Amino acid sequence: MDATPNTASAKLTVGDKSWDLPVKHGTIGPDVMDISKLYGQTGMFTYDPGFTSTASCESQITYIDGDEGVLLYRGYPIEQLAENGDFLETCYLLLYGELPTAEQKADFDMSVTRHTMVHDQMNRFFTGFRRDAHPMAIMVACVGALSAFYHDSTDISDPQQRLIASIRMIAKMPTLAAMAYKYHIGQPFVYPKNDLDYSSNFLRMCFAVPCEDYKVSPVLSRALDKIFILHADHEQNASTSTVRLAGSSGANPFACIAAGVACLWGPAHGGANEAALKMLTEIGRPERIPEFVNRAKDKNDPFRLMGFGHRVYKNYDPRAKIMQQTCHEVLSELGIKDDPLLDVAVELERVALHDEYFIEKKLYPNIDFYSGITLKAMGFPTAMFTVLFALARTVGWIGQWKEMIEDPSQRIGRPRQLYTGAARRDYVAMAKRK
Ligand code: SDX
Repeated sequence: MDATPNTASAKLTVGDKSWDLPVKHGTIGPDVMDISKLYGQTGMFTYDPGFTSTASCESQITYIDGDEGVLLYRGYPIEQLAENGDFLETCYLLLYGELPTAEQKADFDMSVTRHTMVHDQMNRFFTGFRRDAHPMAIMVACVGALSAFYHDSTDISDPQQRLIASIRMIAKMPTLAAMAYKYHIGQPFVYPKNDLDYSSNFLRMCFAVPCEDYKVSPVLSRALDKIFILHADHEQNASTSTVRLAGSSGANPFACIAAGVACLWGPAHGGANEAALKMLTEIGRPERIPEFVNRAKDKNDPFRLMGFGHRVYKNYDPRAKIMQQTCHEVLSELGIKDDPLLDVAVELERVALHDEYFIEKKLYPNIDFYSGITLKAMGFPTAMFTVLFALARTVGWIGQWKEMIEDPSQRIGRPRQLYTGAARRDYVAMAKRK
């Protein structure tokens, strides 16, 4: 797999020396200057904390045009996939690169369905946690613990084991997520049922109780499936880069996904949906919006509008638009006429999008802005929001991990640094220290 070779090159001049850097261009999107030999040629590193201008890899999975607000999975616009397909179709597309035929889709669905149960001894992990443990803490632990159970799919050099591990991850995340939720609320675990589709199975494992039958709402199941599609992958975001870096050392896939779960938890990343709902709740009513918008603009106040802004999108996050539509569908299905949080969100969005600060910094709502309202209406507690994000993003993480492992140019990731610490100095005996 190699980007289209390009005869163009970039000239780097430092003092009286110059070097030519090869320029590569992809199918669409910015060209890249290949600096992989820069240190050997110049004795210098590049410097890019936060990787705002750094391409860490070549990939064929997802493409974002941040200026236009475009998101493509294997070239297909997210709007079309969310409208026409289901989450497991998107999983197949992200893993294999093409939309499945009817037969391929049926085989894939069956394969995932057959791996939804977890080893029964996994249950003992949960009893070690306090009931009020954050479900993301439980997910980090239990996803990593999968490595202790599935030794027959941890040899990353074996394509068959990589495939089984990928299917197991996609299949077992809903089961573990539902178990984390049930443990959190003190209810018994509900086993998966093979006659339910992916999202219906998850809803039932979360909300069914042994005392009565649980009927899955097809509207809510469809809405959740769409939400999973929106969250499935997103180029080299922080958690995906974490999974790639962990995988570059040869760590097993379960351990790599656990690292991704841990990174996603941060409020600047996947934890923003939980933080955004807490923010909307704290604002409480539209009259208080100006106070919070002013705080978000105040350099001396660490407060930021959660669910706003994005490293790549400098236009509306296309997922946020679909999320907003889905939010209205869910609220109307549940007969929720006027949700005060939605009123605050819609007014906050209107105020922010007309405010000079947000316009100048190109800050728009991102996927996390409306997801919390939707998930809360569906019955999920705030602490579960990022768990659902992790459930959906597992296919993106495992697809990017698989692409990296199968890339012949792959090597362990090992960034360098600009060192500004103490120069060499000799040890000082305790008696001589001041
Ligand atoms: C996700 O990478 C991905 O693709 C992530 C994700 C995915 O699918 O994987 O899309 C999921 O993580 C979405 C983002 C969720 N996070 C939030 O909603 C948290 C709030 N947003 C910010 O923390 C921030 O916008 C980030 C973290 C999302 C982006 O940070 P950047 O790219 O490092 O931008 P920045 O912090 O440098 O901000 C640029 C400027 C700054 O002002 P100056 O220093 O230039 O004066 O914009 C300001 C920031 O202060 N700013 C905000 C703001 N976000 C940025 N000001 C107020 N409120 C905000 N939300």
